Amino acid sequence: MRDVTALVFLLSCAAAADGASQSPAPRPAAAAAPPIAVIPRPVKVTPRTGHFTLTARTVISTDAGTAALGRQLARYLEPATGYALAVRRGAATGSRIVLRQDATLKRLGSEGYLLEVRPGAVTVRAPAAAGLFYGIQTIRQLLPPEILREAPMRGVAWTMPAVTIEDEPRFRWRGAHLDVCRHFMPKEFVKKYIDLLALQKMNSFHWHLTDDQGWRLEIRKYPRLTSIGGWRKETLVGPYTSDSAARVFDHEAHGGFYTQEDVREIVAYARERFVNVVPEIEMPGHAQAAIAAYPWLGNAGDSLAVWTIWGVSDNILNPSDSTVRFMQDVLTEVMELFPGPYIHVGGDEAAKTQWKSTARVQERMRALGLRNEEELQSWFIRQMDSFLTAHGRRMIGWDEILEGGLAPNAAVMSWRGTSGGIAAARAGHDVVMAPGDYTYLDHYQSLDRAHEPLAIGGYLPLDTVYAYDPLPAELEPRYARHILGAQGQVWTEYIKGPKNVEYMAYPRMSALAEVLWTPLGRKDYADFRSRLTKQLARLDALDVNYRRPDPR
Ligand code: ACM
Repeated sequence: MRDVTALVFLLSCAAAADGASQSPAPRPAAAAAPPIAVIPRPVKVTPRTGHFTLTARTVISTDAGTAALGRQLARYLEPATGYALAVRRGAATGSRIVLRQDATLKRLGSEGYLLEVRPGAVTVRAPAAAGLFYGIQTIRQLLPPEILREAPMRGVAWTMPAVTIEDEPRFRWRGAHLDVCRHFMPKEFVKKYIDLLALQKMNSFHWHLTDDQGWRLEIRKYPRLTSIGGWRKETLVGPYTSDSAARVFDHEAHGGFYTQEDVREIVAYARERFVNVVPEIEMPGHAQAAIAAYPWLGNAGDSLAVWTIWGVSDNILNPSDSTVRFMQDVLTEVMELFPGPYIHVGGDEAAKTQWKSTARVQERMRALGLRNEEELQSWFIRQMDSFLTAHGRRMIGWDEILEGGLAPNAAVMSWRGTSGGIAAARAGHDVVMAPGDYTYLDHYQSLDRAHEPLAIGGYLPLDTVYAYDPLPAELEPRYARHILGAQGQVWTEYIKGPKNVEYMAYPRMSALAEVLWTPLGRKDYADFRSRLTKQLARLDALDVNYRRPDPR
């Protein structure tokens, strides 16, 4: 446990200040006001008098549309309290938490909610299920942080401060990415990662499933993708060096993959938490593991191994009809597993060296009437765009898919800064912002690198993440609707397992959650830091190995 108790008093004052700007009504004295430390900061918070106490006799009252959410709330509350709360349809009297679908609140949109905590009852109303779910997440944050513990906690008063909260998100795409290729992450951790997103009202999980160093998704038609492509014989130790003679390896095999059954389980788990899973299948670059499994997909013969170092591999898929069909077959199984609208096809860092030097590829390029390798990449990606579009899905790719002409229905994830995203939005394409300087959570969190785990480089402190605005100032307002939102990236070359992921992702992901949810005018870093104290206590309760933030 970290020492957070000393800051509780400060937190109470900050929470009272939060209310001060909201409520014209007389309020209790600041010192007596219980903390309201919700992250992301809600749109409107009006403190009320008193508090609600959850007891073993509290009833969760639902209607037909909210019964499943009521059971979910009961499951959330049971482990720490030990209460098996009754979930009942229809009106209830006595201590109760009421969940109501309410069409008159349409103004709050498909994810907004209205939460009223009063001494006798808590009510969440929302026009749609996602909003009710987010109201439930706010309830979890209004209760003491111990509510998030898995073991029964004795002697905790399960109280919530009385308050009215009206809330809805600023952006539709509130995402987090996780690379499970460079280092495989166990299924249970993927679920924990999703749980943390949901607690912070994030709704998109970008699952980076294939890369040069490992293919992590079972494809029934092509079993070698995982039996061969899922494993590498060893891994580079220490930082990347271009001097191959200076490289040191760990001589330990590394690998793993998710069966289709695992994937179905995770997708269902995410869906229950209103998180959409976006699978990424990399092409035509970052595909060395696939080429190692099926050498005919490549250009350079059949002696390739799954990659054991980091960087950009020269190995790239060849652009033959059979390779296009292979990848479309893969996407067919991917679409069966992932019901969400978006399928990510990568597209980044596709080195063109082999295409330039391979006569067969040059012939192919000429036969297709293409002028250069960028147009060839664009052609390859278009084959996927039209295939996914024909199956009712949307293709999304990293911003390199703009080079050589953007596929007609593609959405763009802008990682090399924001210019790609801006260009795509102006051309009428949807965009998810993922710029390295603000959202790459694999970058260092401190300039004092000697005291940080080895990372890929960069410097991205908490306040810089918090300061990010996904809506670029230079984008004309008429294109703003194309900026769906943003997401945090966790590439794992130097992140060997779950505890390291948590260290890099938290608390920066909490800052990003607020960037994506909270209206610009309600963002305030000092206020965020005061609420963060409580968020860190929540992360402690959830056994998250976050990095302790530097003093302000
Ligand atoms: C990327 O970081 N190569 C998308």
